[in-house]
Amino acid sequence: MSSMPIIPPFPATRLRRLRRTPALRALTTEVTLSASNLIWPVFVTEIAGGEGEIASMPGVERLTLDGAKRAAETAMRLGIPSICVFPHSDPDLKTEGCERAWDPENIGNRAIRAIKEVAPELAVMTDIALDPYNINGHDGLVRDGIILNDETVEALVRMALTQAEAGADILGPSDMMDGRIAALRAAMEANGHKDMAILSYAAKFASGFYGPFRDAVGASGRLVGDKKTYQVNPANREEALRCVARDLAEGADMVMVKPGMPYLDLCREVRDRFEVPTFAYQVSGEYAMIEGAIRQGWLSRDVVMESLIGFRRAGCDGILTYFAPQVAELLAQKG
Ligand code: PBG
Repeated sequence: MSSMPIIPPFPATRLRRLRRTPALRALTTEVTLSASNLIWPVFVTEIAGGEGEIASMPGVERLTLDGAKRAAETAMRLGIPSICVFPHSDPDLKTEGCERAWDPENIGNRAIRAIKEVAPELAVMTDIALDPYNINGHDGLVRDGIILNDETVEALVRMALTQAEAGADILGPSDMMDGRIAALRAAMEANGHKDMAILSYAAKFASGFYGPFRDAVGASGRLVGDKKTYQVNPANREEALRCVARDLAEGADMVMVKPGMPYLDLCREVRDRFEVPTFAYQVSGEYAMIEGAIRQGWLSRDVVMESLIGFRRAGCDGILTYFAPQVAELLAQKG
């Protein structure tokens, strides 16, 4: 005689009980997103007529210095605590030696000062890498086709000191040279900037998702070769964790995983393993995919919030995202 399976008369666990009404769903929401979790990356141009929408990033504009000031005021109004400045520099002034990277009057430094003028409370974050001022589009100095590590680190230190003098609150080394964090930290300690925060682009992968950014800063078409000798192979989880451990040991205060969405596993792992403020960069290509599909009518605008909640669920304390003002506005409306 075959025994009959016993089918209980009701499901043992009814998870739908807590999904029944908006109030119950609100009560049982595990993670939240607020404007204070956002860092807003902005592009600032020094080229006359360089301002305006970036074709591959619909809805994102290159700003003049005045535009950057207005963005800073918008950030303040919306409760976005930080703006990250990316320079769109004059192509005629890019050189092999990248000397403009440490010119106190370069567009990045002028933007830092302009923002601080109107919004001194805003945390201004910088990008430390030579690409905006490099004739060949690389983040480091190039000799005979090789990216020079130690010479680049020296240049980055000079660059960072001018950013600190301009009033930056957070240094964001995105270059991926070895030893840069230790060198930056030592230079800050030695030059009256002991309290300078460093948010290291620690787990930065060699990604195709940076394409629209390179359009935005005028680096596309310029890059000779690729960045695979310094950015991490997208297949390498353990190597990315070593980068984070190393940068923290060298003096980083916060770390970043970049890009974001294809690397959520690392966001969670970095947060759990190191227990330090962890940020994800939802990069230009991620923005372009989402915003582009929304504009085509292929996705609803709700996916913007969903994508950012995903970072919070993965353990990120904050997110660098071009959606920052759009999302902060939405959050303010919701109250
Ligand atoms: C380079 C830098 C890049 C980004 C931030 N800093 C591009 C690169 O590494 O080629 C990309 C950001 C984005 O795609 O939104 N210093």
